[in-house]
This record gives sequence, structure tokens and C-alpha cells, in this order.
Amino acid sequence: MIQIKDLSKIYTTKERVVKGVDNVSLNITTGEVFGIVGYSGAGKSSLIRCLNLLEKPTSGEIKIDGLNLMKLRGRKLRQARLKIGMIFQHFHLISQKTIYENIAFALRAAKTPASQINKRVTELLEMVGLADKRDVYPAQLSGGQKQRVGIARALANNPSVLLCDEATSALDPNTTLSILRLLKKINKELKITIVLITHEMNVVKEICDRMAIMQDGKVIEEGAVYDIFSGPKEELTKEFISSVVSFDVPSAILNKCTGRIVKVMYKGDVAGEGIISDTVQQYNIKGNFLHGSIEYIQEIPLGIFLMELQGDNQEVEKAISYMSSRASLVEVIDHGN
Ligand SMILES: Nc1ncnc2c1ncn2[C@@H]1O[C@H](COP(=O)(O)OP(=O)(O)OP(=O)(O)O)[C@@H](O)[C@H]1O
Ligand SMILES: [Mg+2]
Repeated sequence: MIQIKDLSKIYTTKERVVKGVDNVSLNITTGEVFGIVGYSGAGKSSLIRCLNLLEKPTSGEIKIDGLNLMKLRGRKLRQARLKIGMIFQHFHLISQKTIYENIAFALRAAKTPASQINKRVTELLEMVGLADKRDVYPAQLSGGQKQRVGIARALANNPSVLLCDEATSALDPNTTLSILRLLKKINKELKITIVLITHEMNVVKEICDRMAIMQDGKVIEEGAVYDIFSGPKEELTKEFISSVVSFDVPSAILNKCTGRIVKVMYKGDVAGEGIISDTVQQYNIKGNFLHGSIEYIQEIPLGIFLMELQGDNQEVEKAISYMSSRASLVEVIDHGN
């Protein structure tokens, strides 16, 4: 468990004082993939870099498995930091060293006996699918392959936590997906807790269990990914998830409608089509299907559709309350027509 309590990181430069992280408290459970989302300058990197003391917090507390990182000094601190691996957007590989040497470097830094290094690097290269690249240089690899080396290096000393700062932001969508699958495999098979920063909600949707949204150094919303996608509270959260799940109704659709428009959301295995066809059968109304989508978030369906209901007012009211009894959320949309 990573416990972050009242953490602040204040940068003081000649020109100004910036609260990079402003009084953040968060608990990240062992074994989960935790996503941190926010626009540029929100404080994501500052927060994640405080977790391994790459950035020294101004105040607050960080405990990893009960160990208070800021109270550690010397050898104890170095040991604790070895248990926290990190990967970066631009990989940070050493260009003059081969892939083998890049990974061996991390092992030597941790004083691994020379006799164990070859075996460990071989194991790591196999794990990330680069066994055939051990003697090439970083410049000869694609972005995705470079990130695999970054991952192998971060895992070299058997960390319990892996921090990822925009680890897929420099990659194309297919490569991103293959790196996310590798991270998920590492999370499941090696039981490593992953803290991941991203501005792409598809990344969160793909692999995170829980998430936090940051703005101006603060965490403004946090929770299980499915709960946040299906019921965002803050405006900024809605803005982020709108790239995956849209809650807004296109005005072109609204302008054409004369009947009552309802937005229906259903969670889990409730069949959306069933709700529509049963409603239209049971009530004397006409239902026009306007728009709809189903997203799978952590493999659980989340369906949202828009319908126009036409007919006698009372009958429409009854239909709406019937739909409300079956779906997770039914909202009547005022469109002024
Ligand atoms: N070393 C530093 N000195 C001064 N200010 C800094 C420093 N590092 C970060 N900041 C400021 O702290 C705030 C948070 O920055 P941070 O890099 O943590 O944001 P971020 O969410 O990671 O952004 P991005 O998505 O662009 O990477 C910003 O206003 C930034 O300018
Ligand atoms: Mg950053």
C-alpha cells in the first residue's frame, strides 16, 4: 500500500512560487493499477516524482508498505528506492551502451554480484520480448522497443512498485496497446503495483483499476475507473471522459426533434435494446433511436443511448418512469422544441 498524506511540493524560483502538488492525500492499494490524469501543469509528474523522492516533497508523508520514505537516510533510503521502478515518456536510455549494458547498469548500481548479472538480464529481455536485441544500441530500436528496454531496466531490481510517467505518450496507438498489455502482464504476474500518469483516457480505460484527476496541484476526484466513467462528478472529469463516453447530445440532433428526448444509461449486463423494445411495446408511444454507444470499461459494458419519445404526454411520462426502473439513469433532456 502506498499512503500519501497531505503531500505538497512547492517550487520557489526567482520569479514565482508554484504549488506543484497542493496538499494531496491518496491511498494506492497493493496490486492495483492506479491512473493519474490531468492537463499539462496539473502536477502529475511532480506527484509521481515525489513518490520515489526524485523530487523532495516540501511537506507531507509518503509511506510504502508502512515504511515512511522521508524518514529514511543512507543505505535504507537507497534500498527503499530500489523497490520503486520508473519509466518515462522519452525512455531515458544511455545511447552509447548496448541494450544489455543499459539493463546491466541498473543491476550494477544496486551492487548485484557480477556472476548474477548475465542471467538476470537474459531473463528480463525475455520477459519484455527483446531477447534478440541484447547487443544492439538504442538508436537501432523503435519507440515501442525502447520502452520495453525501459521496462526491463525498471524491473531489474525486483521492485514492488512501478511508476510510469506518460510511458506511452510518444507511441502510436498499436504500440501503445502492446506496451499496455505488457504492463498489465507485469502487474498480474509479478504482482507489481503500477502508478501511471497519462492524459489519454483510453489508456486509463484499458488498464487502470482506480484513478485520480488532478488540477492545479490538487486531486479533484478519485475512484474506481468504472464508477468515474459512468458517473463523473467534476466538470473537468466529464471533459476528460468525453473522449471515451459522451454525455453531451449533439445540438444538430436536438434541433431536429419535436418529441421528448431521454438519455438512458445502463451499467453491466442489462441489455439496452431490451429496454427500448419493451418500452415501445408496453406504452402507446413512438420511440426514435437517435444515438447510442456501448463502451467496455474494464470489460464491463457501459451503454448510453438517446431516444426521442413521441406520443400522448401521460403515456410518455409512464414510459420514462418504466425505463427508469430498468436502467441505471434516465434523464430527460430539455431542448426547447
Ligand atoms: N523544477 C521546477 N521548478 C519550478 N516549477 C516547476 C518545476 N517542475 C514543475 N514545476 C511547475 O509545477 C507545476 C506542475 O508541473 P508538473 O510537471 O508536475 O505538471 P504535469 O501535470 O506533469 O504536466 P505535463 O502534463 O505537462 O507533464 C507546473 O506549474 C510547473 O511549471
Ligand atoms: Mg508531467
